[in-house]
Amino acid sequence: MIETENLTRKFGNLTAVDNLTFKVNDGEIFGFLGPNGAGKTTTVRMLCCLISKTSGNARIGDYEIGKPENALKIRSMIGLVSDNVGLYESMTAYENLDYYGILYRRTDSQRKESTEYFLKLLGLWEKKDTLVGSFSKGMKQKLAIARALIHDPEILFMDEPTANLDPESAKTVREFILSLRKEKKTIFLNTHNLDEAQRVCDRIGILNSKLMAIGSPEELEHSVSGRKTVIQLKQVTEAILESITKLGVKNLVRDSNKITVDISSPEEENPDIVSAIVSAGGRIETVSVVGSALEDAYLKLVKNLQ
Ligand SMILES: Nc1ncnc2c1ncn2[C@@H]1O[C@H](COP(=O)(O)OP(=O)(O)O)[C@@H](O)[C@H]1O
Ligand SMILES: [Mg+2]
Repeated sequence: MIETENLTRKFGNLTAVDNLTFKVNDGEIFGFLGPNGAGKTTTVRMLCCLISKTSGNARIGDYEIGKPENALKIRSMIGLVSDNVGLYESMTAYENLDYYGILYRRTDSQRKESTEYFLKLLGLWEKKDTLVGSFSKGMKQKLAIARALIHDPEILFMDEPTANLDPESAKTVREFILSLRKEKKTIFLNTHNLDEAQRVCDRIGILNSKLMAIGSPEELEHSVSGRKTVIQLKQVTEAILESITKLGVKNLVRDSNKITVDISSPEEENPDIVSAIVSAGGRIETVSVVGSALEDAYLKLVKNLQ
């Protein structure tokens, strides 16, 4: 559905987007995760035909970007929630949605139907005649998403839709994004928030000008080791330390009656570690795995580039 091949954008000497090659499948929520300045907005602007590419290629469905004759077709297939909300505050919720329907040349009945549908989906039907200026930030952002969907596009691009929201509004918006699953849209979500990507997305691409990694959250976790198992014992003995060392674990650290080792897969390694300790006469109080694995993977991948 979305496919790029060596897609590149330079601004003078700066390569903002460097040789991206990836695919986003139909109907998936794809997270484009990277720190500020990683090139997320630049990529989305190219894919939405708002700026030109420097080299490489990309297709939205069957249409190649960068060809003037395809731009209108691509724009009718996509919706964009850009990083500034840009609603009309002196218009009501209903008027905002209806106005965008007019811009997209939807018929009266199509507009009526989709405006009502989205306002109900958002829980805003009772507020349809309220001026948007009085809405909370979270409400506005949800309305901006609905507005981007008013012409029934197949693909929805969202550029950091929760970045400027308080935690409660961000949660509302995230839940709304998840509720769009049943609309069977393809969603391309730019975010610098790792937790958000992990909660909402089916697959994640990690960007830092270059594409550093791509996969499901689980696949990314497994691609980079970096977790630790922490075992609290009643008492650590030499026999216990020796039995763990024999397993070939990495970075065994003892701190009083606590032992920490580096692991790549807790499911596979922890049972052996625990049984080695028990066989050596150890009494275990707690076993825990520390560090969000995806966070480790993300930081490693992003730092590697610098
Ligand atoms: N119009 C522009 N002119 C010059 N540099 C730009 C322009 N737009 C973006 N950049 C630069 O390109 C890089 C990527 O920016 P951007 O795509 O906005 O990143 P992100 O959205 O991931 O924060 C940044 O270094 C930014 O300063
Ligand atoms: Mg951006």
